[in-house]
Amino acid sequence: MRKFKTIISVLVAAVLALSLVGCGGGSSNDGEKKAEKVVIKFSHVVAETTPKGQAALKFKELVEQKSGGQMEVQVFPSSQLVGDKEELEALLANNIQIIAPSVTKLVGFEPSFQLVDMPFLFASDEAAMNFYNGPMGQKLMHSLEPKGMLGIAWWPNGAKHFTNNKRPLKTPEDFKGLKFRTQSGGLLDAQFKALGAGSQTLAFAEVYQALQNGTVDGQENTFNNTDTQKYQEVQKYLTVSGHGRLDYVVLTNTKFWNSLTPEQQNIFNESMQEATEFATKLANELNDKSRENIEASGKVEFYELTEADREKFIKVLEPLYAEYEGKIGKEYIDAAKASK
Ligand code: LMR
Repeated sequence: MRKFKTIISVLVAAVLALSLVGCGGGSSNDGEKKAEKVVIKFSHVVAETTPKGQAALKFKELVEQKSGGQMEVQVFPSSQLVGDKEELEALLANNIQIIAPSVTKLVGFEPSFQLVDMPFLFASDEAAMNFYNGPMGQKLMHSLEPKGMLGIAWWPNGAKHFTNNKRPLKTPEDFKGLKFRTQSGGLLDAQFKALGAGSQTLAFAEVYQALQNGTVDGQENTFNNTDTQKYQEVQKYLTVSGHGRLDYVVLTNTKFWNSLTPEQQNIFNESMQEATEFATKLANELNDKSRENIEASGKVEFYELTEADREKFIKVLEPLYAEYEGKIGKEYIDAAKASK
């Protein structure tokens, strides 16, 4: 089945690459090509019912409406087209024109993006959004331009919480000997190491199965990702920790962007701004609803860290600040800490 899926993915990718000649990736600014229909492929890894999934559909609706159908956005959710491992390469090759990876997955291109994983860094959801929309967040978002990727927006999901199927996680000691899935290496591996646990980086599409067959014991995610991936079916314990963030940078290919006419760029920008406002309003609502769903499933035992518990985690994870300050950039960490 897996092999069949891989063959289908390769075929779809090949057809897409061919179909791009003369559409999104191939148009230029000369008069004749201006009238060509622009096709924008937007690929992401989560379900359509998530904040990212909904915002992608909102962007599609707005672009198509504002351009009178002259621009078309094709949205591919749930790693249908490409998964975590391939989406950055596909964007760079201009085989797809928009992705919105979780911030930490950009660590291979720019280590500063690991900022979101610094334990207990942001004081609240608002503090995170204000950092992203402030000067340092904008600097970080634009840092991939020399690599051919244009940052166009920050989209929120929310705070991460731990789940596992072995025992309730109330103190740092409870993590000893467990193995967790991470979205990327680097700081997230160091976080679990500091807690005495092991870790393994896995693509999002592989997580459910890895939890089910015991490749890993647990994972960390937002309520909404946990719920929409149905991890409650394969996890017994959830610790409401809010120890890190899971948000997105929406990226497009610079060459594709430069191929758009100024009018098309305006439509793109206006639609992205509206979709971003939509995503920002939706994220908390969907996470709250998902928390209720997981609780209502009756399959997961919840534990909410108390202030005293949090202090214990902060103490154990504190050395990560000294270790990662240089890699991430002190100016980013200071700005994030100061954000309200
Ligand atoms: C994950 O891999 O857990 C998330 O980054 C998925 C996503 O895009 O929200």
